[in-house]
Amino acid sequence: PIHPVILCGGSGTRLWPVSRKDRPKPFLPLIGERTLFEEAVGRVASDDRFAAPIVVAGERHIDLIEAQIGSASKHRLIVEPCARNTAPAIALAAAMLPADDIMLVCPSDHHIADEAAFRASALAAAILAADDWLVSFGIAATHPETGYGYLQRGEPLPGGYRIAQFVEKPDIESARSYLASGDYGWNGGIFAFRAGFLLDELRAHRPQMADLVERAAAEGAERGKRFYPAQQPFAAINGESIDYAVMENTARAAMVPADMGWSDIGNWAALHDALKDGREDGNVTRGTVDLDGCGGVLALSDGPRISAIGLEDVCIVVSGDEVLVTTREGAQSVGKLPGATEQ
Ligand code: GDD
Ligand code: MG
Repeated sequence: PIHPVILCGGSGTRLWPVSRKDRPKPFLPLIGERTLFEEAVGRVASDDRFAAPIVVAGERHIDLIEAQIGSASKHRLIVEPCARNTAPAIALAAAMLPADDIMLVCPSDHHIADEAAFRASALAAAILAADDWLVSFGIAATHPETGYGYLQRGEPLPGGYRIAQFVEKPDIESARSYLASGDYGWNGGIFAFRAGFLLDELRAHRPQMADLVERAAAEGAERGKRFYPAQQPFAAINGESIDYAVMENTARAAMVPADMGWSDIGNWAALHDALKDGREDGNVTRGTVDLDGCGGVLALSDGPRISAIGLEDVCIVVSGDEVLVTTREGAQSVGKLPGATEQ
């Protein structure tokens, strides 16, 4: 079977004030009834080609995870002593699996509308991964977003393509030229690896990180369903994402095209886009909201009534004791506001 490895970390500050430190983006029901974490778990549940998931997360989110994953789940939980970004988190999971098993790395910070398409791409990716490709899910790029990784399509492989070049978070000029060339897709952040090969490639490109992860895994403690890696070696790791540490450097990067209604809901404008489909005035509201002569407005409140007149392309979010008002362009910068950083 394929082992799903679900990553929960990061703080999701661009979705402040709803996303807060103690309840970050993965644990919020942003699109429908389910939280993004519940969606990630659900996508691989009740399909016997997937084993029970391994969840990698920090101590402070364990209670949310256990509450949302359901008591019937046979998951395992790797509890990081501190956050060191995705490369160490993924490598820890790899170190706990048999070298020849396939892992499917699933972030818990995006929405996928077509779960069947996701599973089809996962199976295609697993076949390539078994052949020692490091496989990413390629998403069709629609705008020059600088917060994503870009994959340049290379020669065809069974079920996918070789990645000629992997560029994580390019500057805006490069992003524009990639988009214009038509040769590039976005990295969806979902990966399939053979566990032993991922560790080999990590060792090749980040030997010190590979050593420290190996020690943290070897000296860690198993407590029921939970695994606690050793604190000292893990804390000594220089944190880095899998994209920079491995994917940009490996000669064995591949991708499977994944047309599955992916949205990473990176900010309020992206959530607005994901929800407004088909509405003529482009307004999306939740809670008690009265809009008069407004267009392209996102207005969400968990309490007070929002009343607005004559606004265009604005996001208004009321959560607890905080109120955010921003233009759609401004939504990119919400994470830098004092309210978001000082919590
Ligand atoms: N367990 C754990 N520990 N999880 C983490 C950590 C960590 O230290 N840091 C991040 N994560 C989780 C996040 O919660 C998220 O689910 C996933 O790993 C990806 O991390 P992000 O911090 O959200 O990465 P990003 O959005 O900047 O970039 C990645 O995703 C993009 C697509 O959404 C990259 O893979 C990009 O190339 C990609 O385009
Ligand atoms: Mg992200």
